[in-house]
Amino acid sequence: MELIAETPRLIIAKMTLDDAPFMLELLNTPNWIKYIGDRNVKTVEEAENYMKNGVLKSYRESGFGFYKLLLKEEGNKTIGTCGLVKREQLENVDIGFAMLPEYEGKGFGMESSIEIMALAKTRFKLHRIAAIVQPDNPNSIKLIEKLGLTFIKRITPFEDNDELLLYLKEL
Ligand SMILES: CC(C)(COP(=O)(O)OP(=O)(O)OC[C@H]1O[C@@H](n2cnc3c(N)ncnc32)[C@H](O)[C@@H]1OP(=O)(O)O)[C@@H](O)C(=O)NCCC(=O)NCCS
Repeated sequence: MELIAETPRLIIAKMTLDDAPFMLELLNTPNWIKYIGDRNVKTVEEAENYMKNGVLKSYRESGFGFYKLLLKEEGNKTIGTCGLVKREQLENVDIGFAMLPEYEGKGFGMESSIEIMALAKTRFKLHRIAAIVQPDNPNSIKLIEKLGLTFIKRITPFEDNDELLLYLKEL
């Protein structure tokens, strides 16, 4: 396993195709579908393809991507994801996060994001970080603001025409 970082409660590591069953679970949680979108991934094989076209491509092309979060106190169980992505529709790299439902509201979003923001600056040499979020996602908005990002404007970057809030922070 390729470690990226460690926090008091979490190990942050690169994902591989072995994480496809976890991604299948995460992509079908109610909050992912409501707040991020239904990716229509219904089998482990579809999750593998989603990862090949997403996170694994990002590692190759950008040198960073989304990482898995392993909870030390539960035998390194994978509980969520947090990381960075460069999307063609956005000028700046954005930070993203999602936890399995039973691990929301326990501070893991903040704990992992602080580490990812630090890596964005020191390891990936980024000078600015963005975040995009649906206006009806209070938990994510709260986390983005706790991380020190500032609301810039409403944008509709994707084909689904959903209006999102764009936040930025200089690193
Ligand atoms: C958005 C999301 C990642 C936030 O993750 P999270 O871990 O719940 O967020 P936080 O780290 O901010 O923690 C939330 C609360 O847990 C509390 N908490 C509970 N136990 C804690 C502990 N041991 N240590 C620290 N905080 C703890 C925190 O105080 C915080 O509440 P507060 O902001 O009122 O102080 C999560 O709700 C999620 O996965 N949502 C679905 C997917 C999604 O919408 N992703 C974002 C798309 S833009």
